[in-house]
Amino acid sequence: MTTLTNTPVGPLLERLFAEASSTPIPAMAAFAALLPAERARMMGSKTEYRELYAQLKEAAIPVSRATGALLYMLARSTQASAIVEFGTSFGISTLHLAAALRDNGGGRLITTEFEPSKAQRARANLDAGGLLDLVEIREGDALETLRADLPEWIDLLLLDGAKALYADVLRLVEQRLRPGALIVADNADYCPEYLALVRAPQSGYLSLPFGGDVELSMKCG
Ligand SMILES: C[S@@+](CC[C@H](N)C(=O)[O-])C[C@H]1O[C@@H](n2cnc3c(N)ncnc32)[C@H](O)[C@@H]1O
Repeated sequence: MTTLTNTPVGPLLERLFAEASSTPIPAMAAFAALLPAERARMMGSKTEYRELYAQLKEAAIPVSRATGALLYMLARSTQASAIVEFGTSFGISTLHLAAALRDNGGGRLITTEFEPSKAQRARANLDAGGLLDLVEIREGDALETLRADLPEWIDLLLLDGAKALYADVLRLVEQRLRPGALIVADNADYCPEYLALVRAPQSGYLSLPFGGDVELSMKCG
């Protein structure tokens, strides 16, 4: 048994995933109804992301259950102790990563979210899961909040905020990624700039699509 599956985190995640899939959010329905090209344009915009996510502030938009489990397994198997997450929302992915830190013996998880109401919900969920002591929630735009005061070495980076910023956020933190550090980028197919960066032959990363909706990359040296 693990912190991820034990009480309180296991039942808490069950409830949060169930709520995320059953709560009707009109803005999500409107977004899903857009033509694919318009949806891709909005997801790829570096100027409209604040507006887009403000409309979606009632929506959890979590990683899938499989990606959540993958995050826990990667963080555990690499004995991660320093993790950075871009895009907290209600804290579902954060709970998976923080559970891995707990089972690794401790560590520090920095996560960042610009919607204050979402940061507050994430804080409450992490508190309910008994994991808040491992997590620092930085409120604000990741382009600012991840600019300074990062751990000396980062073991794992989760990219799950505005897709258009994946490459910019990677550039902000990449000096701190240790050799062998893993990067999980959710729904990276919306971000061709990021994929071109990590898949380029001389990029310093090994990278591959994984499980349908994730790009998994490793910093080589
Ligand atoms: C897909 S959701 C994250 C889901 C979360 N990782 C989970 O699995 O539970 C993306 C979140 O990133 C936030 N976000 C988007 N761009 C951001 C930025 N530039 N800085 C901080 N937060 C951002 C949005 O408000 C939204 O809550």
